[in-house]
Amino acid sequence: MKINRAQKLQGELRLPGDKSISHRAAMLASLAEGTTVVENFGTSADCSATVKCLRSLGVKIEHSDLALTVYGVGKNGLTPATGPLDCENSGTTMRLMAGILAGHDFESTLNGDDSLRRRPMKRVIGPLMEMGAEIESDDGRAPLRIIGKPRLKAINYVPEAASAQLKSCVLLAGLNAEGQTSVIESVPTRDHTERMLRWFGVDVEITDQSDSTTISVSGYARLKARDLSVPGDISSAAFFIVAAAFIEGSDLRLRDVGFNRSRRAIVEVISRLGADITVENEREVSNEPVADIAVRGGFSGERAGNNVISGSVVANLIDEIPILAIAGTQIDGGLEVRGAKELRVKESDRIEAIVKNLRKMGADIIEFDDGFKVERSKLRGAVIESFWDHRIAMAFAIAGLFAEGETEIRGAESAAVSFPGFFDTLAGVIY
Ligand code: S3P
Repeated sequence: MKINRAQKLQGELRLPGDKSISHRAAMLASLAEGTTVVENFGTSADCSATVKCLRSLGVKIEHSDLALTVYGVGKNGLTPATGPLDCENSGTTMRLMAGILAGHDFESTLNGDDSLRRRPMKRVIGPLMEMGAEIESDDGRAPLRIIGKPRLKAINYVPEAASAQLKSCVLLAGLNAEGQTSVIESVPTRDHTERMLRWFGVDVEITDQSDSTTISVSGYARLKARDLSVPGDISSAAFFIVAAAFIEGSDLRLRDVGFNRSRRAIVEVISRLGADITVENEREVSNEPVADIAVRGGFSGERAGNNVISGSVVANLIDEIPILAIAGTQIDGGLEVRGAKELRVKESDRIEAIVKNLRKMGADIIEFDDGFKVERSKLRGAVIESFWDHRIAMAFAIAGLFAEGETEIRGAESAAVSFPGFFDTLAGVIY
């Protein structure tokens, strides 16, 4: 994909359904009793991988336009698949399905593409084995062979990483455990699983202590089907927000974007740095906060605020760090990100991908084990390697809009992992 400098971004967009929420919608609706219609189900390849896995496990799911109709089978009603389940590139599919399958009395194998087979799975294997499931792996990596148990042991679990996937895995296994399963989180992560379990009628207990939050579910809970609507994906919106904020004359409105407190730090950070962003019409849809976001261009990047991102906010914008790095090249004082070592085990080593590609574009950037510091830099077009990572491909497409000369993104197709229409949507608002 070839990208050139943009004059401005203008228009109004509705983005595809949030990827994290869509995964959970398909999974929880499958575990519910009754039929659920999910509106604006995410178009991402990751979410299709989840749907395919659930179908292989005996769930009838119909997909028409953007609505998904799921005929729930009850929380331990899945049936064995005839072969391995392919989670493709999707960590959420693998980690959450592992939690669900641990409580089913049969054997399943979860596999994925080269990237997913490199990612750490010990973090879910540990607690699930403690709960009584048997799991074989390739030294802590996929393929995972899971021999589920009909009744797991409830545990109190302190996650080894600030990961919503890990938290959700344990809570979903907890639905088929004897007694109450708790996850004790010291760093808050996205809470879509908790919110959606409640939407489906499950009593989720959430207790805040001074330094942690305990989230508990009971193994006696049952899920009841209930239609829902998925908000636009704020992580997809982030690319457009950054592009419009820095390109003078831009005027972009993003409608019906998920505005969950555990996901919206990207908007808060970019606003705090000085961008002109207005959040309007905040409301709740299907137990998730939603808002419209208006961005006006022209932020020169001068006199930017606190340019260090570290600590607990990192988990809130973990998927937005590639695009934040691009924003960092446009602001006085640049941007430093620390405490983000998790980025090394995402779809690619995102720290390495950011540093290598920004250097190619002429940016002044230093790499740390847990982050990077990028200076305000004039970008020039270059040949960019996506490392087959959707967020790297899209972040550098935006960098291309800021750069002098032409930028070529290799492996741009990988954008489809979270946002199949990304390049067309972008082309539609560029002038
Ligand atoms: C996700 C959680 C995050 C995020 C991923 C989706 C989820 O991963 O990076 O894109 O849907 O729960 P971790 O929770 O592992 O950090």
